[in-house]
Amino acid sequence: MGKKIKKIGVMTSGGDAPGMNAAIRAVVRACSYYNVECVGIYRGFQGLIEGDFVALTARNVNNTINRGGTILKTARSEEFRTKEGREKAFKQLQNAKVDAMVLIGGDGTFTGGMIFYEEYKFPSIGIPGTIDNDIFGTTSTIGFDTALNTVVEAIDKIRDTASSHNRLFFVEVMGRDAGFIALNSGVGSGAEEILIPEEDLGLDRLLESLKRSKRSGKSSSIVVVAEGDKIGKNVFELANYVEENLPEYEVRVSVLGHMQRGGSPSCFDRVLASRLGVKSVELLLDGKSNLMVGLVNNKIQTTDLDKAVKGQHQINKELLRVSDIMSI
Ligand code: F6P
Repeated sequence: MGKKIKKIGVMTSGGDAPGMNAAIRAVVRACSYYNVECVGIYRGFQGLIEGDFVALTARNVNNTINRGGTILKTARSEEFRTKEGREKAFKQLQNAKVDAMVLIGGDGTFTGGMIFYEEYKFPSIGIPGTIDNDIFGTTSTIGFDTALNTVVEAIDKIRDTASSHNRLFFVEVMGRDAGFIALNSGVGSGAEEILIPEEDLGLDRLLESLKRSKRSGKSSSIVVVAEGDKIGKNVFELANYVEENLPEYEVRVSVLGHMQRGGSPSCFDRVLASRLGVKSVELLLDGKSNLMVGLVNNKIQTTDLDKAVKGQHQINKELLRVSDIMSI
């Protein structure tokens, strides 16, 4: 049995995601429930190196479950990539008598936790928090559901003007190198075509699909493009390419950008964050470490951090087929 855990640190790291505050709240309140102190670490690993800590009680997280963003701020830390930086971080934890950490973030965050465990055997549990949903070991990351709803709402608005002007819109969405946001929001918003890095549609097939839409009597179309798509042209170049090859189309572009990261988290994300936050504290108190908590078949399950980092969350091919059929 490892050292008794009396104080747990919690941080958010990497791109922020709606629901991170709900996860922080769950960690803090689970610590209170189990009579364990909790320390908030500001700005991820950079704040850890600088000792930027704040004691957190159950009352400090009142009225946060519904707030987007993260009350602990987040940042990316080049210094933590260095051995000296990690040594400073470890000393800060020792000085503050922190016994374990909960890391809320994505792959980069978990890699930091993994290396920190290898070098200092410091216990930590990862909670998958990113709108990209590109984490192995969970069907949903915190923030993904909220981002989908934000994107679908935006595309519904774009469709109003597209149909009023008989236009084709290319809508770029986030997701880094993954197509989860594009695929799910594309199906959910009834997009005529969805371009994702996991499936190379190719320019010819795109033109064919758009011609077929026109022939079937569609007067306007929406094409959702994942920012990491590999078709070889960005959305502005795609718009020019289509106007050059299909002059019957009037084309416009909308890049949704960072609005996808904001907003009050959906109920699904709040519940997911609460379940994962409680489980992460219970695992640490049970002497476990170096794991990520995730949701699979609506059950909380753990994955070794190194597997979570090295594994790849596969795109749902059945959803791709649905998308093809729906765009007839
Ligand atoms: O990982 C979340 C994410 O929003 C990605 O979808 C996007 O590519 C990236 O962060 C943007 O990073 P930044 O906020 O540093 O511009």
